[in-house]
Amino acid sequence: MKKIEEYVRSIPDFPEPGIIFRDITSILQDADGLHLAIDSLQDLIKDVDVDVIVGAESRGFIFGMPMAYNLHKPFVPVRKKGKLPCETISQSYDLEYGQAEIEIHKDAIKPGQKVVIVDDLIATGGTMEAAVKLIEELGGEVVKILFLMELAGLKGREKLKGYDVASVIRYEGK
Ligand code: PRP
Ligand code: MG
Repeated sequence: MKKIEEYVRSIPDFPEPGIIFRDITSILQDADGLHLAIDSLQDLIKDVDVDVIVGAESRGFIFGMPMAYNLHKPFVPVRKKGKLPCETISQSYDLEYGQAEIEIHKDAIKPGQKVVIVDDLIATGGTMEAAVKLIEELGGEVVKILFLMELAGLKGREKLKGYDVASVIRYEGK
């Protein structure tokens, strides 16, 4: 059986010179790779008591939603600014390549709910730091933060100190 790392396609110098892009589409387009990715993430919360799974647009949806479905839990999307139709709260953050803002519906998380947040990748940690702030502003408790891949060299975990963070694949570089 192939290991999950073997399904990731690495593209040098994309989107900028010096960056190695870790492509998830090569995982998704293989039925075994897709199963392994979701199962590996889910395994990281097998002992975690969770009420809601949150995924960050857009790649976080791909991995978070199947987990919510499998666990029979609600899925809440954190979306990029301007996409959610009802009352929202928002957070801006620095991305690896620029600035961005994300939002969540105010009624999506109830105070005291235990939340697991899922994304495909942690680079600088800016996206996840902003997602955590949104959930906590609504009174949710972030019990676990999951990534399929972690670029450890960018030290994104330093933005998530005090939280239980886990990743399936760790790359030592950037
Ligand atoms: C990418 C990736 C993570 C984030 C990681 O998303 O999917 O969400 O960047 O970077 P960070 O740790 O430095 O914040 P992107 O904003 O490119 O959008 P996408 O998921 O819609 O492709
Ligand atoms: Mg993303």
